[in-house]
Amino acid sequence: MCGIVGYVGPRDALPILMGGLRRLEYRGYDSAGVALEHDGVLEVHRAEGKLDNLVTVLSATTARGHAGLGHTRWATHGRPTEQNAHPHVDCDRVTAVIHNGIIENFEELKSPLVAAGHVFTSETDTEVVVHLIEDALAGGLSLEDAARAVLPRLEGAAAIAFVSGRDPGTIVAARISNAGGVIVGYGEGENFLASDIPALLEHTRTVAYLEPGELAVITAAAVRFLRFDGSAIDKVRTTITWDPVAAAKSGYKHFMLKEIFEQPRTISDTLLGRVQRSSGLVVFDQDLRLSDDQARALPRITFVACGTAYYAALVGKYLVERLARIPCDVEIASEYRYRDPVVVPGQLVISVTQSGETVDTLAAMEEARKRGARLLTFVNVVGSQASRMADDVIHLHAGPEISVASTKAYTAMVVDLYLFAVYLAQRRETIAPADAAKLLAEAFHLPTLMDAVLGEELKVKALAYRYHEARDFLFLGRGANYPTALEGAHKLKELSYSHAEGTAAGEMKHGINALIDEHLPVVAIALRDSTYKKMLSTIQEVRARAGVVIALANDDDLEIAGKADEVIRIPRTNELLAPALAVVPLQLFAYHVSDRRGNDVDQPRNLAKSVTVE
Ligand code: G6P
Repeated sequence: MCGIVGYVGPRDALPILMGGLRRLEYRGYDSAGVALEHDGVLEVHRAEGKLDNLVTVLSATTARGHAGLGHTRWATHGRPTEQNAHPHVDCDRVTAVIHNGIIENFEELKSPLVAAGHVFTSETDTEVVVHLIEDALAGGLSLEDAARAVLPRLEGAAAIAFVSGRDPGTIVAARISNAGGVIVGYGEGENFLASDIPALLEHTRTVAYLEPGELAVITAAAVRFLRFDGSAIDKVRTTITWDPVAAAKSGYKHFMLKEIFEQPRTISDTLLGRVQRSSGLVVFDQDLRLSDDQARALPRITFVACGTAYYAALVGKYLVERLARIPCDVEIASEYRYRDPVVVPGQLVISVTQSGETVDTLAAMEEARKRGARLLTFVNVVGSQASRMADDVIHLHAGPEISVASTKAYTAMVVDLYLFAVYLAQRRETIAPADAAKLLAEAFHLPTLMDAVLGEELKVKALAYRYHEARDFLFLGRGANYPTALEGAHKLKELSYSHAEGTAAGEMKHGINALIDEHLPVVAIALRDSTYKKMLSTIQEVRARAGVVIALANDDDLEIAGKADEVIRIPRTNELLAPALAVVPLQLFAYHVSDRRGNDVDQPRNLAKSVTVE
């Protein structure tokens, strides 16, 4: 989950590296650092904490160079200190390394180096690599050959890059496993490196992706790709078509708020071109290769995902079972791979992921593939590892999501899963054409309904300010909105650092009731759907025990006002689509509680956007 950038060319490397790091700070913000090579001399500057601390450190230097690397860290091995910040250097401070991932066998590699007199200055797993490179360079190898000698000895997950005074004007970058993307950007007489596209967009839109087991030797004039055994690779270049301006805050106080307000548009983008006018059928683009016969024959679907994407997948199960009558399971990706899972012939395993780089999700996909499953991914980031691994891809069209807490990617996931459920139901003829048409028409109305919900932001804000001091919160839902309750609680705890728990309302009497008292705000999702009456009973039970109820209700519900302490209202939509709408006020609630508490909304403590370590 660390961010990596690199530059080689005639320009001053430092501002380019810092600009790239600024765009990647969401990947990790425990420390940051840069290494610059200038006429064979290496200079390294690092700082604990956010990138601004590195800016302060650099302002007291005359750092410059035409080849360099930058890194923003999310700590795995070793505390988030300056000492453990990347880049790490060898004993002679000639070569620097930056790394994203974990080197699992670092202890075993380190002991002989220490015995041979190498002095380690950090607690990280990464530092071992630069000492191995030091030995290889001392043996007379070039940086490229030294990297090729060292990389096969590293076990675990890693994207890695080197710059060295011994090989001026060259960066060597490599990808050791699925975890940790490495992207080369092509310029005119200059070339770039990054872990993520947003860091490159200001300079180039022409890129190439490294696959596991590949390395790139980057100079100002050229980029060569090779495998660890030295054999050359002819890389295909890809053009990025997104809008870089979309990645800026556009006047909002935080990226999260901007992304919440972008949802009507991202949902419109998600729906665009998905329904064929002539037939009324849901269609996805050519990246969904599943044939109609295969769709009809699907015996079972397993969803794998992490975090917010997992809650979207729970909605997906509800939708697919309800509409297409296919049995579904939803698995936390990190559990799936270690559970000896059963894959039946013809089974589809669907990963749901914003980044397409979450290591547990990728590992679950790999596990499923080994067991013979067909892989489909619902993914936001185009060109990400998940999209390259899967047999079938459904792109979310949510645009770049910068805030660590996911919002617009979640609603895009839910809407795409809704479309996918209708798609399957149409092929399997489990719903009547008229019902499918109605479901789709309601989906096209969703952006307008979302606009209406966002129009009520100030009411949600007032509520958030009223309850922002509560230490615990409970979120209750049923049916399709049980996952909404889980996601509402998840969002609040990520951002506010309060304890928040989501639960199925029917489970209250099996334990949670014991928690209720006048200090516990209970957010109850009580929409006018098939679960409404049951939710009203639960609300009454909470009130009877002195609990404070904040109901999320429909705007035509006249009954609820007398039953809840507070009411947030949203327009009505069909029960299956409601999760995409009901989550929006809960996103706003979490946002405003967090902002009121003075927390760093876009970069909550101890979290990172892209979790590329286990
Ligand atoms: C991290 C992020 C979450 C996200 C999860 C899964 O934990 O902080 O917001 O839901 O990873 O990420 P993915 O990119 O796979 O959706």
